Amino acid sequence: MTTLGTPLSPSATRVMLLGSGELGKEVLIALQRLGVETIAVDRYDNAPGQQVAHHARTITMSDPDQLKALIEAEKPQLVVPEIEAIATPMLQQLEEAGVVRVIPTARAARLTMDREGIRRLAAETLGVPTSPYKFCDSLAELQAAIDGGIGYPCIVKPVMSSSGKGQSKIDGPADVQKAWDYAMAGGRVSHGRVIVEGFIDFDYEITLLTVRALDAGGVVQTHFCDPIGHVQVSGDYVESWQPHPMSPVALQKAQDIARKVTADLGGQGLFGVELFVKGEQVWFSEVSPRPHDTGMVTMATQWQNEFELHARAILGLPVDTSLKSPGASAVIYGGVDAKGIAFDGVAQALAVPGVDVRLFGKPESFVKRRMGVALAHAADVDTARRNAKEAASRVKPRQA
Ligand SMILES: Nc1ncnc2c1ncn2[C@@H]1O[C@H](COP(=O)(O)OP(=O)(O)OP(=O)(O)O)[C@@H](O)[C@H]1O
Ligand SMILES: [Mg+2]
Repeated sequence: MTTLGTPLSPSATRVMLLGSGELGKEVLIALQRLGVETIAVDRYDNAPGQQVAHHARTITMSDPDQLKALIEAEKPQLVVPEIEAIATPMLQQLEEAGVVRVIPTARAARLTMDREGIRRLAAETLGVPTSPYKFCDSLAELQAAIDGGIGYPCIVKPVMSSSGKGQSKIDGPADVQKAWDYAMAGGRVSHGRVIVEGFIDFDYEITLLTVRALDAGGVVQTHFCDPIGHVQVSGDYVESWQPHPMSPVALQKAQDIARKVTADLGGQGLFGVELFVKGEQVWFSEVSPRPHDTGMVTMATQWQNEFELHARAILGLPVDTSLKSPGASAVIYGGVDAKGIAFDGVAQALAVPGVDVRLFGKPESFVKRRMGVALAHAADVDTARRNAKEAASRVKPRQA
């Protein structure tokens, strides 16, 4: 697609975001800047992305009938999943019927919505190094998998979950029952299936943002952003920075893995490839076929941030993944359970050198809900990390 239209006119290029949280909001802004007509879909009204789109729709995206009806009514040229909990088999049907193009592909959305699809593809089909793993449907199977070779420590995760929900580490036999119960309570749909993974004692973990975009000849080329380092607490990202230094051998291995996995998933767009690194060993962990939360740092560090890269790549436009400055991001949590909260201290946060702040505009806050992010650029990553954390700590959410 090399021709762009005028929004709200018959020539419009129409793009539908499935999921309109903070990441979708930035993709929508990037699309708006190119004059794309946008439809922001979420499961609740006034989601962050719905506040910046031409059209806002609220449906249950995991319901295939609701999803089909909406796509057929709105007739977008592109459907861009922003979350995992979507009726992806229906997307596949609609894509096969030629009704819509799914970004990057409906198959990629389906394979990555559950840990089993993407893990088996990466480890068993593509032969990419991963942690040792087993899928289990009961406590007895979990115990057998651990005793049969996974060993301790290990990590249990519901096959359908994100942001660390239902995920826990097992250090010894006494933790197994607790981890199973926690996974059963935390999964997205109560399938009762988990993955147990051997614990990788990595030196550091990165997100390698990988972009599949068309070149001047209309051929897909793979581009890499500089590695993003991050810290996760209970499976949720709290801080990220770019660039994260890597040995040339480890970087090459990381790029080879990312290229292989994203090439198989196919299509055009940006992917967040999560990798563990120890010395010169690299393991694939998982991949988002869309912008990644740790990649919010690119709003401070790249000429084209990950959202602009995604928007450009899906529209068939050229991309530039180069770094502008070292930088960092730090999450601003809600800290309270309340609706319509207020944020004190924004001026104090913005007084930190090189800092910017995004407040997502989520209608409801939870103690551990991500409500905003502080971004910092600086001459070096250490300074940027310090400043981003300082700025995030100066923003004080409270009940209004
Ligand atoms: N096998 C493992 N060995 C060591 N650490 C792990 C392993 N699996 C996961 N982790 C740690 O837990 C974090 C979250 O795991 P993972 O990415 O699989 O979960 P998630 O729920 O999909 O999280 P998110 O949605 O935030 O990416 C990882 O970034 C890593 O820090
Ligand atoms: Mg992850």
